[in-house]
Amino acid sequence: MRKKVIAANWKMCKTPDQVQPFFREFLPLVASHDRDEIAICPPFLDIPAALEAGKDSNVAIGAQNMHWEKEGAYTGEICGSMLLAIGVTHVIIGHSERRQYFGETDDVVNLKLKVALELGLIPIVCVGEVLEEREAGLTEDVLRRQCLRAFHAISGKKARKMVVAYEPVWAIGTGKTATPQMAADAHVLIRAEAAKSFGEEFAEQLRILYGGSVKPENAKALMAESEIDGALVGGASLDPKSFAAIVRY
Ligand code: 13P
Repeated sequence: MRKKVIAANWKMCKTPDQVQPFFREFLPLVASHDRDEIAICPPFLDIPAALEAGKDSNVAIGAQNMHWEKEGAYTGEICGSMLLAIGVTHVIIGHSERRQYFGETDDVVNLKLKVALELGLIPIVCVGEVLEEREAGLTEDVLRRQCLRAFHAISGKKARKMVVAYEPVWAIGTGKTATPQMAADAHVLIRAEAAKSFGEEFAEQLRILYGGSVKPENAKALMAESEIDGALVGGASLDPKSFAAIVRY
């Protein structure tokens, strides 16, 4: 049995003063919920407030990005050891918005993944096709390429903590959700790629999340799919009631 991860990606939303009120409302709604792993990934500047508000709770705090070097002259960047030093446990890597708007390539994703694993962070590696690729029948090729390049030169032993998120770009923030079957098909393919890179046993325990317009109304059907090991939630995670409803699907 793979324990599901329900993770929030707040993207570039909420100021630090909005963090505590969110947790004050959210934590009682998920108190003693241990069926799933819960993680919230706020913007960097909100992380200290989230760590404080989530202290001694069942909610882990993640970041949405990190640099691939351990330190150095990279103006404006944040590295994994800084995250680790303040108590962050999870980090999203290769989100499609980073790929789309900030030029993040498969090779950069691979570099970041290696460092996150080396530091002992739990990386949530995002893959997913854009609409044109799906319509051109290229979904499988794209997912294969993204996985192969992200997993390059990493051993199964090192990758043990890795989580993958399948986020079809056409479903992000659009209100369009992949059907549970579409998501499951993609997850089977990602799992097969993980098996090629890391072995069958590794692939069997790998958690693959679905992301793209997950809402309280569709969470149950998605989570019922045995291939779907959790959710990465954007818009619907900004409201404590709605994110709690997803956690408790
Ligand atoms: P939405 O849930 O807003 O579609 O965003 C999904 C996502 O990108 C999570 O990382």
